[in-house]
Formats: sequence, structure tokens, C-alpha cells
Amino acid sequence: MKLRIAFLLLLLVCLDSSGEEGERRPPFISTPGDVVERMLQLAGTQPGDLVVDLGSGDGRIVIAAAQKFGARGLGIELDEKLVERSRHNARLAKVADRVSFVHGDVLASDISRASVVTVYLLPSLLDRLQPRFVDELQPGTRIVSHAFAMAGWKPDRAETVRVTQPHPGQGDESTLYLWIVPAEARGLWQGGDLRLRIHQNYQDIEVEGTQGGKPIAVRRATLTGRDIAWETRAWSFRGRVEQNQILGKLNDVPLVFTRAR
Ligand SMILES: C[S@@+](CC[C@H](N)C(=O)[O-])C[C@H]1O[C@@H](n2cnc3c(N)ncnc32)[C@H](O)[C@@H]1O
Repeated sequence: MKLRIAFLLLLLVCLDSSGEEGERRPPFISTPGDVVERMLQLAGTQPGDLVVDLGSGDGRIVIAAAQKFGARGLGIELDEKLVERSRHNARLAKVADRVSFVHGDVLASDISRASVVTVYLLPSLLDRLQPRFVDELQPGTRIVSHAFAMAGWKPDRAETVRVTQPHPGQGDESTLYLWIVPAEARGLWQGGDLRLRIHQNYQDIEVEGTQGGKPIAVRRATLTGRDIAWETRAWSFRGRVEQNQILGKLNDVPLVFTRAR
């Protein structure tokens, strides 16, 4: 029991640092190797991706992204010694040309180029990052968190994985969470004689529609990144949200919606 409490206290300090000067840094807690691989799989990591690990520790997630998934990677880490260790580890893994590590505070770093973001940080820090994820990441960017969820933003997926080599007190299971950054779809849209009002809470959308001024019943509306879909009894629409347009097909017939006032 004492060991578990000590571990949790250590985790609290380690996972949620403010970067203030003079701070004494405890050893960090890393994500076990098999969980790293599952996080990157859950994100659907591909060779074209830029994987950014916020609080990158010894660099293992970024290095695995390059080594096993052919992606490029960037680690941002407050502890300078861990940044040096990460660079050394990247050279050993022969991926130093595809990954880089920055010594800095994730709260003050540019994350906008990421197509995959990974985190193993406490909810208090995730809560501070959450508005930036929505405002600064491109729609479709995948965010995977080890162990901790974000308040108010329901994950697109959550799964529990077995950990074969846990840290003392870490337990033999970890929960992973995936969010896909949604496009901004809320508002009024006009396409031909169809008018849509989209209500949005992160990736959850509700669509009210009219045709020629008469209400139509819209159901099964979904938004995944930029991909939007909805149905009526007679039609199904699939499209992409691109700034002020939704480009798609209504029962295979091309249709463009533009933002209306
Ligand atoms: C639990 S470790 C995770 C390390 C690695 N991502 C992994 O999963 O193995 C959290 C790391 O975040 C770093 N960290 C905490 N707060 C930070 C901040 N504000 N900016 C940058 N790094 C931070 C810590 O120094 C620590 O190395």
C-alpha cells in the first residue's frame, strides 16, 4: 500500500510539471513498450504522419513512431536531461534523421503541425491543453492519451490493454483514449433548396434541415475530422467540411453547401 501511495505521489509531480525555475525533478514514469505500440496503432499512425509526444520523457513514443510506423516525430520535454537522453536513444535506434526533441514547456510550444498527438499527462495538464487541441490542431488530427481522459470531451474510442511489464504500482492494465479533432461544422448551411442548421459539441452533431422551407427529418448525423454524414428516409449525404463549404454527394449527386446567414 505504501509503495502504491508513493508511486502515485511521484506520478502526480512527474506528470504535471509547470516548468518553474529551481524545481526539483523526480524520475519520470514511462509508457511500457507494448502500450506505446498500441497507442500508435490506435492513432492509425502512417508513414506520412508527424507524431508529437507532449512530455516525451526518454523519447520512446516518438522513436517507436519512426522505427515501427515510418512516421516522423517530435518530442517536447521540460527536463533537459531527458531531451539529451532521447536524442541519444534516437541515434541508437538509427532514426535521428526522422525525429527531433525540443526542450520546452508543452503549454508554450507550437503543436499545430502534428497529425498525431500522444500524451501521458495528468488531467489537470490535459485540461489546459484541451482548448489548444481544438483551436490549433488540424481537423482529423488524432490524439491518444495513456491513462487519463479529457473532461467534457468524450473520446471517439477508449480501450483497456494488458501491460506485460508494468512499473511497480502501475497495475497490469492501462486505458487508452482516442480523440479525432473535429472540423468546425456548427451553423447554418445552404445547398440547392436544402438548408441545414448544425448544432455541434466537439464531434457530436445534430442536424435540423428544411427543403424549400419545409422541415425534413435528419438522422444519424456523424462528424469524424472533416468527414460529415447524415441521412433522411430518402437520402444519404456524405461530404467533407472545408472552411466555408461542405463538399459532398447526396445519393451520389454532387452537392455543395455554403455557409448561410
Ligand atoms: C509520465 S511521463 C511520460 C513520458 C513519455 N511520454 C511516455 O509516455 O513514456 C511525463 C513527462 O512529461 C514531462 N512533462 C511534464 N510536464 C511538462 C510540461 N509542462 N512540458 C513539457 N514536459 C512536461 C515530464 O518531465 C515527464 O517526462
